[in-house]
Amino acid sequence: MSAPPALNETRRKATEAGIDLGGLPEHIAVIMDGNGRWATARGLQRLLGHREGYRTLRTVLLDCSELGVRYLTVYAFSAENWRRPATEVEGLMKLIERAARDELRLMHRNNVRVRVAGRIDEVPPSLQEALRDGIETTRDNTGITFTLAINYGGRAELVDAIRSITREGIPADQIDEATVASHLYNPDIPDPDLMIRTAGEMRWSNFLIWQSAYCELAVTQVAWPEFDLTVLLDAVRQFQARRRKFGGL
Ligand code: FPP
Repeated sequence: MSAPPALNETRRKATEAGIDLGGLPEHIAVIMDGNGRWATARGLQRLLGHREGYRTLRTVLLDCSELGVRYLTVYAFSAENWRRPATEVEGLMKLIERAARDELRLMHRNNVRVRVAGRIDEVPPSLQEALRDGIETTRDNTGITFTLAINYGGRAELVDAIRSITREGIPADQIDEATVASHLYNPDIPDPDLMIRTAGEMRWSNFLIWQSAYCELAVTQVAWPEFDLTVLLDAVRQFQARRRKFGGL
């Protein structure tokens, strides 16, 4: 375990906002929704909303890292997003690839460990290569673990887990929850404690459905391009005001 970060600017702001730095969620998952609506409301093309969303993500990753959050997982492209018009799908793939390449140095310098979740073998080969490069370069980093869910579906992840359990020939009566959990895409990453969804929808949208069984949900009204440290701290404050019972009393 690395020592908690010093009282940097972000942690100072968090303390001022009433956050208990000793009770931060270890793992935050984010459904970055509302890019399209944000752009359309401004008379812009939807892809410009995604580009702005990329800028937000860059800041939020660094904020979470400075705050001392250990894991951040974001829904960058769902298995259902292929149903969007080809231009948007292509634009998103290119944007994610560009981000993976352009931000690698910054992430590495900030000790970020990059991971992915999803059926990555189905995304364009050049994106696969950029992602592999990011994972390899940062694999020994000890700071925040940043997981990009790409071509990700929670049900597909469970199907993939069942397939690998079956391939390994594990007898049915030996399969328990730990067996399933250990066959998910990133079994070493703890379950999210807090799931944030932006832009007001009250849905899980097939994101981390196994892992989020006990996580707290915070829905923000702001769209993802407008999300910032203040909104993040607000979600963390909501999280800290709740008492997690995990089915107990
Ligand atoms: C949902 O908004 C968002 C997405 C489908 C893509 C998320 C992608 C980014 C934030 C871009 C950058 C990502 C990386 C990893 C660099 P929506 O389009 O469904 O919004 P809407 O509901 O308003 O239409």
